[in-house]
Amino acid sequence: MMQWNELKGVCSSCTRCGLCETRHNVVFGTGNENADILFVGEGPGEQEDLTGLPFVGPAGKLLDDMLTIIDLDRNTNCYICNIVKCRPPHNRDPLETEQESCIGYLRNQVALVKPKVIVCLGRIAAKKLIDPDYRITRQHGTWTERAGVWMTAIYHPSALLRDVSKRPETFDDLLSIREKLKEVDAKI
Ligand code: URA
Repeated sequence: MMQWNELKGVCSSCTRCGLCETRHNVVFGTGNENADILFVGEGPGEQEDLTGLPFVGPAGKLLDDMLTIIDLDRNTNCYICNIVKCRPPHNRDPLETEQESCIGYLRNQVALVKPKVIVCLGRIAAKKLIDPDYRITRQHGTWTERAGVWMTAIYHPSALLRDVSKRPETFDDLLSIREKLKEVDAKI
């Protein structure tokens, strides 16, 4: 396992998959490296690729509002990253091979942050981290504990921008995350 500096350095020059050919920046992750809660998205979009920061485009604005609802803030009490750290062209879903090439970096991040709670944002992250057969429509907001870490998934903020009818369910899921953080005595 690498420590933060080495991990960031290795990521920034990674050529393990084809996404390195088209990226402008590697989007490593942001937030409190000792947070008790970690959010995992799918992969960088255009704004993220251009800035090197996760969730700074339209979906990111919504994510910030969602965090505010449960007293979280990206800079102080959570850590935010993605399954793949380079933008898939035209925002297509990251290929299984790209996810496999990149997942070791995320596992290393999880080992360093040591979160008590992991929230997958959308189906791609839920399938990769919780269960390959995960069905986001049926299972969002449900909890599973693995190796002492509580895991759940909620709809991706991009999905909530496209389909506002999913927002009430997501509000309930957010309240459930806040409850879980209390249960595990997370530092907020
Ligand atoms: N969507 C994601 O899944 N991750 C980002 O960082 C931005 C948009």
